[in-house]
Amino acid sequence: MNVQQEKPELVHVVGIGADGAAGLSPTARSIVDSAEVLFGSSRQLGLVPGAAGRRVVWPSPLLPALPGLLAEHADRSICVLASGDPMFYGIGATLVKLLGPDRVRIVAHPSSLSLACARIGWPVQETAVVSLVGRPVELLHPRVQPGNRLLVLSSDGSTPHDVAALLRERGYGPSSMTVLSDLGGEDEQRITSTADGWEESSVGPLNVIAIECRPAPDARVLPTTPGLPDDAFEHDGQITKLEVRAVTLARLAPTPGQLLWDVGAGAGSIAIEWMRSDPSCRAVAVEHRDDRAQRITANAAALGVPGLQVVTGAVPRALDGLDEPDAIFVGGGGTAPGVLEACWAALRPGGRLVVNAVTLELEALVADWYRRVGGELVRISVERAAPIGGFTGWRPSMPVTQWVVSKR
Ligand SMILES: C[S@@+](CC[C@H](N)C(=O)[O-])C[C@H]1O[C@@H](n2cnc3c(N)ncnc32)[C@H](O)[C@@H]1O
Repeated sequence: MNVQQEKPELVHVVGIGADGAAGLSPTARSIVDSAEVLFGSSRQLGLVPGAAGRRVVWPSPLLPALPGLLAEHADRSICVLASGDPMFYGIGATLVKLLGPDRVRIVAHPSSLSLACARIGWPVQETAVVSLVGRPVELLHPRVQPGNRLLVLSSDGSTPHDVAALLRERGYGPSSMTVLSDLGGEDEQRITSTADGWEESSVGPLNVIAIECRPAPDARVLPTTPGLPDDAFEHDGQITKLEVRAVTLARLAPTPGQLLWDVGAGAGSIAIEWMRSDPSCRAVAVEHRDDRAQRITANAAALGVPGLQVVTGAVPRALDGLDEPDAIFVGGGGTAPGVLEACWAALRPGGRLVVNAVTLELEALVADWYRRVGGELVRISVERAAPIGGFTGWRPSMPVTQWVVSKR
């Protein structure tokens, strides 16, 4: 998206802390004071009472209005106020995306991450950040790992309460939580507790939460590598089992930012593990049965990827209009007429297709595709030791024929 302007001016973006104008550098101060138009939230604009420029309070929702607002004031010098570092989950990044880096000049202030780490003595580079601003608390799940240090950007004053509840439910009640509110301001406050001991239902709305994750002795630790235990998912038997799932994810080969279609998603385990591989990975789970689709949504939230898109419908029609995938997994519905054709057609060059066949019918189809377009055919057999009377023997699972192919 590009904003057309007759006379493009630099847009200045000035980071401001809770200490307001007093905490601005001389450069930032002179940009604010000389701007003809100041944009910001009413709280941010209230921090610079002396500035003479015309004040414009951001509308809600902001994003759709932004290009029009900038175009309206294109012939004036514009200063946008941002909290802390404008490039850290801030409006600065949005403006650079909209206008390009040459049209935006950022004047940074310490971020809430830097201020929080300074207060509690954590190295910034060893602190993982999760933003819950306008996003579901379940996003925390993949980061809740023993010993992990997390800084959570809160949505509002009730976020610490919700985070404590999530940690307790996961068996991480002993984790320490330090809630830092109004950092840098006169009303700066710090509350420290464990998730088990957290009692406040609400704190100041401007807060971040520093968490040191500690599991209770009986907590279940779920790694971020593929191959979670089958019972980490709710399922009705329609699930790609642990060993085959781990191999399948290796073949699908997710890299950051990529999109997967999980066709015939069952319990959603492939799509969920794809998304757990990196917070920027996206997936669409396509499932024709409504009860399974609901289960996929619940599994996605419980395992920390609430952004998984679930499409309820029969393939191939349900694939119409989906964003172009980087990889496709067919775990169900592969024998329905036109499904493999639709998947192959949807893949961009370099995209990967993995089909797991357990029936002779799908195996026959896959063998024909393999003959025509190539790839690799692999047979995976898994046997598990199980009791036989008073002894132990190997119980085989149904073998899986896996076809893996990259489109040229
Ligand atoms: C959209 S993000 C923007 C982050 C900002 N760009 C920065 O550098 O800190 C807003 C998050 O920062 C937190 N935040 C902003 N100012 C804060 C302050 N003075 N003290 C504590 N948290 C603050 C908010 O509570 C929210 O979680």
